[in-house]
Amino acid sequence: MNLEPKTLSLIEKLFAKFELSGQNADDYLEGLLVSNYEPYWKYIQLDSLLNLQHPKTDIPDEYIFITYHQITELYFNLIHHEIGQIGENSSAHNLALRMDRMIRYFKHLISSFDVMVDGMDHKQFNQFRMALLPASGFQSGQFRKIELCFTSLGQLLDPSMDKGTERSFTDLYDNIYWKKGAIDLKTGKKTLTLEQFEKEYDTPFKALAKEYESKNLRVEILKHEGKEGFADLREKAKSLDVALNINWRLSHYRAAVRYLARAGDQSVGATGGTNWQKFLPPRFQKLVSFPEFWSKAELDEWGKNWVENELGL
Ligand code: HEM
Repeated sequence: MNLEPKTLSLIEKLFAKFELSGQNADDYLEGLLVSNYEPYWKYIQLDSLLNLQHPKTDIPDEYIFITYHQITELYFNLIHHEIGQIGENSSAHNLALRMDRMIRYFKHLISSFDVMVDGMDHKQFNQFRMALLPASGFQSGQFRKIELCFTSLGQLLDPSMDKGTERSFTDLYDNIYWKKGAIDLKTGKKTLTLEQFEKEYDTPFKALAKEYESKNLRVEILKHEGKEGFADLREKAKSLDVALNINWRLSHYRAAVRYLARAGDQSVGATGGTNWQKFLPPRFQKLVSFPEFWSKAELDEWGKNWVENELGL
């Protein structure tokens, strides 16, 4: 058999690669001869993937609920993948590329949320949800990690706290909005949902928050102030802010309203035990990852327009 020059060159490169790591290229070629081709279903681990949905009840629509949560977590993971890809390369070009991808993932999540809002039977939902107590999406560690990697801890303070006050790391961490939001107002005690969450995640989250103090996305973007490409980064940062802190939260809030709100003042308790009508809406949370890119008027109106337009509230 006459091998093409291109093939020969590839073989040479392969031998050079193995030599460099002290490996015998012939052994690897023999291995190649007997190894199987990998079909699609093995490559994407389809069997494992479709064996990860374990509803706690026999109520059919719980399958939709569990699957959509998993889809969301996979997208959250893709967002982390992009954050990781910023790494040491925080050039304007790399930041813009990564932010575009994150915006795209959020757009998918926001537009697909009607799978939850309209895609489940109301009665079925209110039956199976009781079997899930005290679990809640509130306990999504990946969601919290996105928040922590996007901005400084001070931006995650509970809205009742003064953001202008100088605070220690511990004070900041202990007053993150989600910790305050999951305190039972009557007893002053932490909900079980929060207790479980803190036990699992407090240690790694503190380490993450410390690590990202000096390299969160906000810090990296601001390093480009006054330089070429900054205007573009600012627009992308604003899109990400709207995606994470307004639109995703509002799509999600719409699901809570759809299933948990009842006529009049009555509402169904949330599985995580928060006062969800006060806790979830962006206009109360007032979370902004990149505050320097918004005007005072825009910050004052944070999250209000959408609620008025979409929910008529
Ligand atoms: C019908 C669908 C859903 C309803 C009714 C719902 C309801 C709620 C409620 C009431 C809370 C407040 C915490 C609590 O007391 O439990 C919450 C928090 C949360 N849920 Fe959901 N949820 C739904 C779907 C999802 C999905 C698909 C995800 C995706 C992972 C998710 C992620 C979250 C997150 C991240 C929080 C914390 C939000 C924050 O701290 O601002 N939820 N959810």
